[in-house]
Amino acid sequence: MKLPAKASAPEPTRRRVEEEAARLRSKGLSDLGYKDAELERLGRLAAMIKSLKDERGAVIPVHVYQRPEIIHGIADFVGDSYKLSKLCGQAKAPFIVFCGVSFMAETAKILNPAKTVLLPSPEAGCSLSESITGAEIRLLKSQHPGAPVATYINTSAEAKAESDVIVTSANARRILERLYGEHEKVVFLPDMLMGQNLARQLGKKPGRDIILWKGTCIVHDSFDAASVSLCRGMYPGVKILAHAECSPGLVSTVDFVGGTGDMLRYIESTPAPFYMLVTECGLGELARSRFPEKRFVPMCRLCPYMKSVTLERVLKALESPARANVVEVDPRVQDRARKALERMFELAEG
Ligand code: 13P
Ligand code: SF4
Repeated sequence: MKLPAKASAPEPTRRRVEEEAARLRSKGLSDLGYKDAELERLGRLAAMIKSLKDERGAVIPVHVYQRPEIIHGIADFVGDSYKLSKLCGQAKAPFIVFCGVSFMAETAKILNPAKTVLLPSPEAGCSLSESITGAEIRLLKSQHPGAPVATYINTSAEAKAESDVIVTSANARRILERLYGEHEKVVFLPDMLMGQNLARQLGKKPGRDIILWKGTCIVHDSFDAASVSLCRGMYPGVKILAHAECSPGLVSTVDFVGGTGDMLRYIESTPAPFYMLVTECGLGELARSRFPEKRFVPMCRLCPYMKSVTLERVLKALESPARANVVEVDPRVQDRARKALERMFELAEG
């Protein structure tokens, strides 16, 4: 693999730094506790990243769980896994600098293999993605012949290549409904809790109609139904929204369950005195900046993988990418993984 040539960002003028710091402030970062000196430091980095991004011809997709300085400082587009995969597949820029976790950057590479995809934080994994291998999926397929394998996007390229269709939190229900139109049994991997939630919504029996795996998200699995319910009594009229990776016990007590994009749309369209988001902290911070007139009850956990991306690391990846920053997908799995992703786009939108 040939590494991209090194480049260095010019030192921004004092005025540019102040402009960037002011923009971060206007997006509510001071309210989140960022001090002026920190905003200036981040403003300088954002200005350097932007000038190098333009010079290199790079696009920066950002997941909603990323740090606020990344979302508001350097993103070309911000979204959930579905939106990011769709837009990365259509990206025209020669470089995609992915601010998110490894499976997301890998998906961008699978969908747009001619581009150089850079991952600023190469160790940004995901507990779901690490829970299953291609070999384990092959074994499951041999145990359930004829049952289509629907695999959550939070998986490796190798796992995707063994799957019939990929799903995200935004379309899992719709895609499974369509699969059940033609099959009695579906293998759904690897998120056990999301699978149990889908089984309940669709009236399917785990172990018989829906075959599940034992993966969980370390962030969403850590919320408990009792403490979430306690908040309902404290904030009359609160609307509680949970990510679809939370446990069925918790999901059965909330007002809305879905992916991060669905949660933002629900807040926008549903009036309420308070909202509580049971998910990674980044979504609550983003919701606060998008809907400053609305009130949010704090309840969140940090994803250590998502939060390992920093502006310093983005700048370093753009200036002098190391081998580990450049996302490579084995060509033997790339085409098969792309087919499963394209099937997702067909079933989700068709
Ligand atoms: P979304 O696709 O809903 O943004 O979920 C991604 C994720 O990693 C949730 O933990
Ligand atoms: Fe993976 Fe959970 Fe982090 Fe999302 S929040 S990237 S599912 S560990």
